[in-house]
Amino acid sequence: MKKDLVRMKTALSQEVITALNEQIKMESRSSAKYLAMASWCGEHGFSNSEDFFMLQAEEERMHMLKIFKYLGDSGAKALSPEVTDIQQEYASLRDIFETSLEQEIAVTHSIHRIVDACRKNRDYTTELFMQWFIREQMEEEFVARRILDLFEMIGEEGQGLYWIDQHIAKVRTEGSPETGASATAAE
Ligand code: FEO
Repeated sequence: MKKDLVRMKTALSQEVITALNEQIKMESRSSAKYLAMASWCGEHGFSNSEDFFMLQAEEERMHMLKIFKYLGDSGAKALSPEVTDIQQEYASLRDIFETSLEQEIAVTHSIHRIVDACRKNRDYTTELFMQWFIREQMEEEFVARRILDLFEMIGEEGQGLYWIDQHIAKVRTEGSPETGASATAAE
């Protein structure tokens, strides 16, 4: 292959490629964390929460694959992520949902940093691609906050945790009025 054609293999800048590969790692890590959370919930009898995190784990893997495919389709090298040191134990159901919201906020910041890199490198194509993730994060943060509201509204005493777990399936399918889509309806 001619040298100039090799150089034209990808229009993406190295900075954007690195940021997208970091995001692949982050999504993969989120998927693994949610699996650990599902396991904890199942072990402690919170079956709706277990289902919730199983679905979340699947969604995060889908996010990872979406970016992976985008890099490949753009002629850039996607790196298969290595994920280690996943926290397996949690103090309580509330601890799990608080950790989950923190994680989603960190992902949102990371997505925004990629958009910053796109603008800096005048990569309008990747910026457009990232718009889907921005909306997805709005949805995920909304659901995580709604679930934490349940802890305040229902309370954790007596049968509180049982009822919180009962409401969790509902929160997920209600979705966000802002995005007009439910988390389960996300691509
Ligand atoms: Fe794919 Fe919830 O970050």
